[in-house]
Amino acid sequence: MLNILPNLTTTLAGKALQSCLMNASGVFCTEKDELLQLVNASSGAVVTKSCTLEYRAGNPSPRYADIPFGSINSMGLPNNGIQYYLNFIDEVEKQSDKLVILSIAGLSHQENIELLKIANQSNALQLIELNLSCPNIAGKPQTGYDFVASRDLLQKAFEVCQKPIGVKLPPYFDMVHFDEMASVLNDFPIAYICCVNSIGNGLVIDKNTDATIIKPKNGFGGVGGLYIKPTALANVNKFYELLPHVDIVGCGGVQNGQDAYEHILCGASMIQIGTTLWQQGISCFARIENELLQILQQKGYTSIKEFKGKLGRI
Ligand code: DHB
Repeated sequence: MLNILPNLTTTLAGKALQSCLMNASGVFCTEKDELLQLVNASSGAVVTKSCTLEYRAGNPSPRYADIPFGSINSMGLPNNGIQYYLNFIDEVEKQSDKLVILSIAGLSHQENIELLKIANQSNALQLIELNLSCPNIAGKPQTGYDFVASRDLLQKAFEVCQKPIGVKLPPYFDMVHFDEMASVLNDFPIAYICCVNSIGNGLVIDKNTDATIIKPKNGFGGVGGLYIKPTALANVNKFYELLPHVDIVGCGGVQNGQDAYEHILCGASMIQIGTTLWQQGISCFARIENELLQILQQKGYTSIKEFKGKLGRI
C-alpha cells in the first residue's frame, strides 16, 4: 500500500507556511531574543507581542499565574514600542523566510490608526494582526465587544493601511453577537481572524491567603488554557460558518495534537499556542507537531485541508 507521509503545511492570508502551528501573541514574543527563538522554532509563523506607539512597562507583578487548567494574566500591554518590532521584522527578512506578523493594540482608536500608518511604511512587514480584544487595561473596554466601534476602527484602518490586516477577536458567547460581528467583518477585506483572545476578567483565589492570585485590576485577568477550549472551538466553528472566505486562526486550549486537530476540524487554517508555550517553552511546537502528524497518519489524511472544517454533527 502506498503510504504518503502527512505534512502540516497551510496557507494564511495567501501565504504558504510550512506548519499550521505558531505562538499566540503575548507569549514569549516581547523581547528580541525570544522572538529569534520563535523564528528558529519548528513553527509556521511568528506573531509579536501586541505593541503601542511607545514602550510600556505594563501592570505591576504578579501579573501572570499558572492555574490548574490554564492561566490568568493581566500584563497590561508591556512592550517595546512599534519601532522595535518593525526593526526586528526588517532584520529577520534578511536572514529567514519565516513570516513574522506584527500585532498592534493601541490604547485608543487614534493610537491604532497611528500604529497602522507607521506599519504601512515598512517594506519588510507582510501581515498585521490588529488586536480588538485586550482585556487588561483599566478603563478601556475591548473594542471587539462594541460592534459600532469595531466597524468604525476597521473603516479607518483600511483607509490608512494597504497591508493585509487580520484581527484578533475576543470570545463571543451569544449567537446574536457572532452574527453582529460577522456582519461587521464581512464589510472589510480582512486577511484572517484569530479566535480567541483570553476570556476576559476572570478571578482566581489563592487558597492559602484568601487573596487574589494576581495583583493588577483587583485580581481580574484574562483566562487562557484548557478552561477556554470549548469557547475557542465554538468561536472558530461559528465564524467558519459565517465567514466562509476568511482564514481562521484558532487559539485557545491547545495542549496537544488532538486539541490542534479539533481546531482544524472546526475550521482553523492555523493554530496559535499561548498558555502551553508559556508553561512548557518552545519545545511544545515539535511535540504538538508530532502528535498532530500521528493523528493524520492514523486517520489516513496527508494534509490538513482534507479535514479542515469537516466537523461531524449528531
Ligand atoms: C494583553 C493581554 C491580552 O489578552 C491582549 O490581547 C493584549 C495585551 C496584556 O495584558 O498585555
